[in-house]
Amino acid sequence: MKILARLILGLVIFDAAVTAPTPESINYDSESYDATLEDLDDFYNYENIPINQAKIERGTVMPSGNRELLRLGPEMGEIQEEEDDEESTPRMIDGSFPQEPEFTGVLGPHTNEDFPTCLLCTCISTTVYCDDHELDSIPPLPKNTAYFYSRFNRIQKIDRNDFASLNNLKRIDLTSNLISEIDEDAFRKLPQLRELVLRDNHIRQLPELPTTLTFIDISNNRLGRKGIKQEAFKDMYELHHLYLTDNNLDHIPLPLPENLRALHLQNNNILEMHEDTFCNTKNVTYIRKALEDIRLDGNPINLSKTPQAYICLPRLPIGSLI
Ligand SMILES: *[C@@H]1O[C@H](CO)[C@@H](O)[C@H](O)[C@H]1NC(C)=O
Ligand SMILES: *[C@@H]1O[C@H](CO)[C@@H](O)[C@H](O)[C@H]1NC(C)=O
Repeated sequence: MKILARLILGLVIFDAAVTAPTPESINYDSESYDATLEDLDDFYNYENIPINQAKIERGTVMPSGNRELLRLGPEMGEIQEEEDDEESTPRMIDGSFPQEPEFTGVLGPHTNEDFPTCLLCTCISTTVYCDDHELDSIPPLPKNTAYFYSRFNRIQKIDRNDFASLNNLKRIDLTSNLISEIDEDAFRKLPQLRELVLRDNHIRQLPELPTTLTFIDISNNRLGRKGIKQEAFKDMYELHHLYLTDNNLDHIPLPLPENLRALHLQNNNILEMHEDTFCNTKNVTYIRKALEDIRLDGNPINLSKTPQAYICLPRLPIGSLI
């Protein structure tokens, strides 16, 4: 059993090295880089962490029919956290199984739906990397997952329970999937969620989002006229980046939270804005000092028509001023 566990650990590390994306492969706009540069640095450096220092979570091959082991409740999950790293024990996973996932990882024909996510994906400490694994649904995640990356897969839907009781989840990155549907409650009960990246999908309707968010990127989706709820971002007091480019939006989502630093709305269908979109027409001393980066280029809007709309801003929006 020990040899087998070592073999699998080797394969998981090999898989991590082979599938670790290079900085060139990320298709973030250069302007959205600064926001998460630190995160990205941390992320892309993970392969340089000496293996004996990185806390690698790993699972064990489990005979099929042993599903009950995986279904053990949260109490067992807590015990598992205190375990000696050296011991190979079955991976405890909270929550439900994906429906017929096509697990076609490096482990080849031996992988099947009974396999814990950390064998298929790469788990390092509380981060789960599932990029580019041909997943068609969100895999069950370890209960202590804080950062979840599942980019370049084929996920179509986010279900109500995909992220259920993941109380430590801070970042979800599902860039470049085929997501068109998100359950209204999918993100609702994530008390620590800070960063939500859903760019390059087919999303038509945003569900309710937690007010703890600081960074939202839903660029290149299909939100259109009705995809964003009224006052969707109003109570997000810590939101500083809101990226909604390429969505065929026809309006600027209002009100904008006070601490917002960057608002990217390029390549939409925004036709007009009002004098009080950013500023306060009733209070000329009001200054929206945080909002330094507004992008409205690629919209059929003539910013010269509303000269009073920018008086409270530290910088003019970028867009057509002719
Ligand atoms: C006007 O805005 C300034 C700066 O934000 C604030 O200190 C002041 O209380 C506001 N006045 C009114 C009448 O709301
Ligand atoms: C934009 O608005 C300004 C001010 O109303 C106007 O002078 C200008 O002709 C407009 N430009 C276009 C291309 O409509």
